[in-house]
Amino acid sequence: MTYTVPKLTDYSAAALEKAADECIAACTTEAEAVRSDADLKSFRDRWMARKNGILTQINDLWLKGAPKEAKREAGMRVNELKTRITELVEGAHSGAGADSLASEFVDISLPGIRRPIGAEHAIVKTSNEIVAVFQKLGYSVAEGPVVETDYYNFESLNFPPNHPARDTQDTLFIAGQQSKPQRERLLLRTHTSPVQIRTMEQMRPPIRIVIPGTVHRNDPPDASHSPMFHQIEGLAVDTNITFGDLKGTLDHAMKALFGSSVKTHFRPSFFPFTEPSAELYVTCFICGGSGKRGADPCRPCKQTGWIEVLGCGMVDPNVFEFVKDNGYDPKKVSGFAFGMGVDRLALLKYGLDDLQYFFQGDVRFLEQFG
Ligand code: DAH
Repeated sequence: MTYTVPKLTDYSAAALEKAADECIAACTTEAEAVRSDADLKSFRDRWMARKNGILTQINDLWLKGAPKEAKREAGMRVNELKTRITELVEGAHSGAGADSLASEFVDISLPGIRRPIGAEHAIVKTSNEIVAVFQKLGYSVAEGPVVETDYYNFESLNFPPNHPARDTQDTLFIAGQQSKPQRERLLLRTHTSPVQIRTMEQMRPPIRIVIPGTVHRNDPPDASHSPMFHQIEGLAVDTNITFGDLKGTLDHAMKALFGSSVKTHFRPSFFPFTEPSAELYVTCFICGGSGKRGADPCRPCKQTGWIEVLGCGMVDPNVFEFVKDNGYDPKKVSGFAFGMGVDRLALLKYGLDDLQYFFQGDVRFLEQFG
């Protein structure tokens, strides 16, 4: 017969004891009858469920129903009973014990499953290191889309439509854009420079930003080219920024990246969006600037002792004209910009001779950077 909680009329110590004993006996019998996990669950629910479980019923019927003078005694009894019942319920287990022990046996002497931990790709790692150098100087990180419009990639960077300077960047255009006005046509950004304009549209001066990201050009892959590669752009705009600030900042950054003994050297160059423009060279960190490795010629610097690392210059006033309304009046602000290729720097840093290793996804190569 299944146990039901009786109503108590007699609250004498003897009657309470009898009721408690009957309850414990019933619970013990039911605990012994548990055979499976399902039994165990319904047994637990029947006794312990907060809503209408037997313990709850006892609380309601015996304790709340007790006359005033018996409340104390009844309270103590019920508490004892609760402890005992809880022990019985917790101690109950499904009879399947022996079987499940056998089936769940684990041979701890077997070798474990090795889960390879992911690692930063060498290019991402190099990119992060470069970004960190500028973050320490107070620069923040900005990003922009890889599929870009003609306006941001070229026009607003002072490459007018049909200007021959556009030919310096073999651009991959998105097909089927002919019906749109030229400035809205989509392409894969050829450099990270468009994010200069995008950020200046969003943030008023002063700004100091670095922009890491992927870029694309129509270059067939070989040991030193890839149709997809990585750049880091930099831009600082404020009042009274001079070429001296550009030189000081980049000289510091190169020393932080390649070691305090490297020297920097600026050569005049041309970019439509900077005036004047320069290319920055550092003393070759492979041969230390001598152009030789022992008796052999140093290949990475082509025996010159110098390695070109980036393009830079003072932001051309024509560029500011496109964001003049957001506080970039070229008569009031000035700035410098720079852009570097991360892949080539990673190649030099790790002493590799083929850029393609980075993109082939061979784990044996990639795990060396973990
Ligand atoms: N965007 C140029 C390129 O991809 C690199 C560059 C040169 C960026 C000069 C700059 C800069 O910001 O000032 O060739």
